[in-house]
Amino acid sequence: MKLISDALNLAKETKARRNRPATVNYEPTGVQIEVTNHCNLLCTFCGRTNLSNLEFVGSMSLEKFQHVFNQFNHLRSVSLFGHGEPLMAPDLWKILAWIRQEKGKKFKINMTSNGILLKQEFVDQLVQYNVRLTVSLDATDPETYTKTVGAKTFHKVIEGLDRLRVATEKHGYKWSINFLITNENIHQLPEMVELAKKYKARKLNIGEQNFYGAGGRMEDAFIKLKDAVRENVGVALAKGKELGQEIRLQRRDKHVWPEHDTYVPCKYLWTFPFISWDGYVCLCCARPYPKLHNFGNVFETPFQEIWFGEEYVKYRREVAAGVQDGPCKSCQHLSPTAEDAPPVNLDLERRKKLVRAKTQLAGEDDADSGKKLPLVS
Ligand SMILES: C[S@@+](CC[C@H](N)C(=O)[O-])C[C@H]1O[C@@H](n2cnc3c(N)ncnc32)[C@H](O)[C@@H]1O
Ligand code: SF4
Ligand code: SF4
Repeated sequence: MKLISDALNLAKETKARRNRPATVNYEPTGVQIEVTNHCNLLCTFCGRTNLSNLEFVGSMSLEKFQHVFNQFNHLRSVSLFGHGEPLMAPDLWKILAWIRQEKGKKFKINMTSNGILLKQEFVDQLVQYNVRLTVSLDATDPETYTKTVGAKTFHKVIEGLDRLRVATEKHGYKWSINFLITNENIHQLPEMVELAKKYKARKLNIGEQNFYGAGGRMEDAFIKLKDAVRENVGVALAKGKELGQEIRLQRRDKHVWPEHDTYVPCKYLWTFPFISWDGYVCLCCARPYPKLHNFGNVFETPFQEIWFGEEYVKYRREVAAGVQDGPCKSCQHLSPTAEDAPPVNLDLERRKKLVRAKTQLAGEDDADSGKKLPLVS
């Protein structure tokens, strides 16, 4: 019976993925749950660094996670990260053990991490729980790395990659690398292919930053270097072929690739809700800030009521029509030209100061251990 209702639900979701109706008649089969919004880096391109106010910083306890997770009836996968570093979440390992116990071996658990905390005991558990891990690494040398992420921890990520390489050799563990193109690192892309091959990453994902996450800093956007982007992406793809390294070009900026149809319409409101560490159902992983917008809180209102509710219907209607004039404005998934309108009144300097004050950078005190973090601070 459960198998049939799961299949029916999935069929409806698949159809809605194409049609994007305002009213939906199914539950999402995937969800992103932010286990923490603590982070130990301040990456220049990240919305957490540039856009969030971080009024509240904290992590989800196992009990709270169970309360959220149990509200979904047809899940096939969960992504355990948001705008923070998931390996810093104090209850992460308990959460992983519980999901596997509840859902069995085949359930997909995705996680993206900055890789600083990939010590041996953590790698062992990631392998044990079969977490589909992606490590974000945007540089092949310590100087470029530090310029981009703000901390001197390149060596730690490399040590972590080496442990993952061993896990791949011993247990066939599959994991990937995310490389986000910036002005600083574009020339390192071909070398990154070699690095991915060396450490036995299954896949190298290449992304081009969205400038909203970068705080709408058009002046810093890599599109200034479009010739370098085109050239280096070309070399990287060729190198991938030569070395047998799988590469996936995730986002192409339309200014850099005018000959390509680069527009990808929003699917998030139909298939992939984002729940913040404190239970708010946010727009998506590109706008994970409850104060900017939220559809409700799953600790107060049942998820179904929120998902089928009027506010979601309103947003689905506006986004499908490409006319959302609030928080989705300037999102590249709203319309082919939406990103050309820079976000207004972001007050970036004030936000950056707030975020800096609440972020303990890796290398400073206990920020690397993650263990001393309180669940709410
Ligand atoms: C927000 S991070 C959270 C997980 C973890 N802290 C990490 O860095 O992997 C998830 C992914 O978002 C990517 N990201 C951050 N800012 C971005 C932007 N402006 N455009 C595109 N991707 C971005 C990061 O490179 C990372 O791979
Ligand atoms: S590690 Fe960087 S990209 Fe990930 S959440 Fe922290 S600041 Fe953002
Ligand atoms: S249009 Fe953009 S910001 Fe709005 S929900 Fe979709 S992906 Fe998120």
